[in-house]
Amino acid sequence: MSEQIIPKHIAIIMDGNGRWAKKRLLPRTAGHKVGLDTFVNTVDTCSSMGIEYLTVYAFSAENWNRSEDEVSALMELMSKGITKYEPEMNRLNIRLRLVGDIDRFAPKYRDALRGVESRLDNNSGMTLCICLSYGGRQELVYAVNKLLKEGKTEITDKDISASLYTSDVPDPDLIIRTSGEYRISNFLLWQSAYSEYYFTDVLWPDFDKNELLKAIDSYSKRERRFGR
Ligand code: IPE
Ligand code: IPE
Ligand code: MG
Repeated sequence: MSEQIIPKHIAIIMDGNGRWAKKRLLPRTAGHKVGLDTFVNTVDTCSSMGIEYLTVYAFSAENWNRSEDEVSALMELMSKGITKYEPEMNRLNIRLRLVGDIDRFAPKYRDALRGVESRLDNNSGMTLCICLSYGGRQELVYAVNKLLKEGKTEITDKDISASLYTSDVPDPDLIIRTSGEYRISNFLLWQSAYSEYYFTDVLWPDFDKNELLKAIDSYSKRERRFGR
């Protein structure tokens, strides 16, 4: 591989856990469990590569429409997983940001997640944004309502950027989606205006370091023009 241009901000739509489990005749939750391990490994790799921002789409606003069983299994898995991973994230000097309507989570999960976020707040290494109960349209509505409450009657694109959940995070350079789906599914609609996309058929639980390096290598070869 030639010299790599490392993206400053990588965003990932971690998709395909259910199909991974189905292929093995396992319950969907088994796919989510392995998906959580893939997430932890990806965070480790990105942090050690010097990526400044990593954003992952873990649970969408629309994922609330899944079965009650799957939703509660996911809540349990994510809050326990992130709590268990806290010492390692701290060791890696990772700052955590929860992005989305976390207040929709049951208080015990919300409080556990917010606790980890606040304890890692003073770290200065990679910023890890976890999108939970997140939707790009919902975020834009939130931003516009925030501006209306501030008394604005006319707004600029800077006003919108500054009112999003991700106001202090630069736009993603590279957006990866696993599992062979070619859609954005309500992820970072505003922020992705000039992001590069990388799609792979690999299902999220199988997305290892080598697959991540392939995505970065592909990004490295792109010419970004930003309309110029
Ligand atoms: C991604 O995997 C994880 C979440 C959306 C929470 P899926 O659960 O969407 O898996 P598939 O797409 O059904 O295979
Ligand atoms: C997108 O995956 C959301 C996450 C990965 C968290 P989905 O599986 O929910 O998206 P669709 O339904 O295939 O568009
Ligand atoms: Mg899916």
